[in-house]
Amino acid sequence: MPSSSLPSYDRALQLLKETGCSDGLIRHVEAVSKYAVEVAESLADADVALVQIGGLLHDIGRCKTHGIEHGIVGGKLLRSLGVDERVASIAEKHVGAGITEEEAVRLHLPPGNYIPETLEEKIVAAADNLIEGTQRITIDEAEADFHAKLNGNPAAIRIRNLHDEVFGSAKRSVPATRAKQRL
Ligand SMILES: [Fe+2]
Repeated sequence: MPSSSLPSYDRALQLLKETGCSDGLIRHVEAVSKYAVEVAESLADADVALVQIGGLLHDIGRCKTHGIEHGIVGGKLLRSLGVDERVASIAEKHVGAGITEEEAVRLHLPPGNYIPETLEEKIVAAADNLIEGTQRITIDEAEADFHAKLNGNPAAIRIRNLHDEVFGSAKRSVPATRAKQRL
């Protein structure tokens, strides 16, 4: 499906507002989208437009719930709104570095594999992990946050692996390691 079938930036913002997302959440997703675009532009094969809109809409599920299921809720919501399937999949698979089928069972989520697979899914998830609110944090800070929340769970270890895969393949340096950069 071509990028032209994606909602425009303004339409994506309108969808967030119509869904009842807070101004704070909108500032967060704009920061994630901007960072994800910087990463995508550093990579030869990434669909920058898809990453931009996927970044904007990845957390639309948070307008309904802040639980771990917000990614899946967001994906379902985006499909119901007729948004490009690739964007719905980005939302569904962005939580941490994704959720395995086994973890989904344990977490009582709808059965499925929610691990990011496409380059664009990986970029948005990796960028989101490095944005706290609207601030850029380092992978060390992000990893420490996840370990504190998940207590050494493999899901936290995957955060760094995903980061290294995405940022390690960036052609030029993206300011991923600038601690607490204010946007
Ligand atoms: Fe997010």
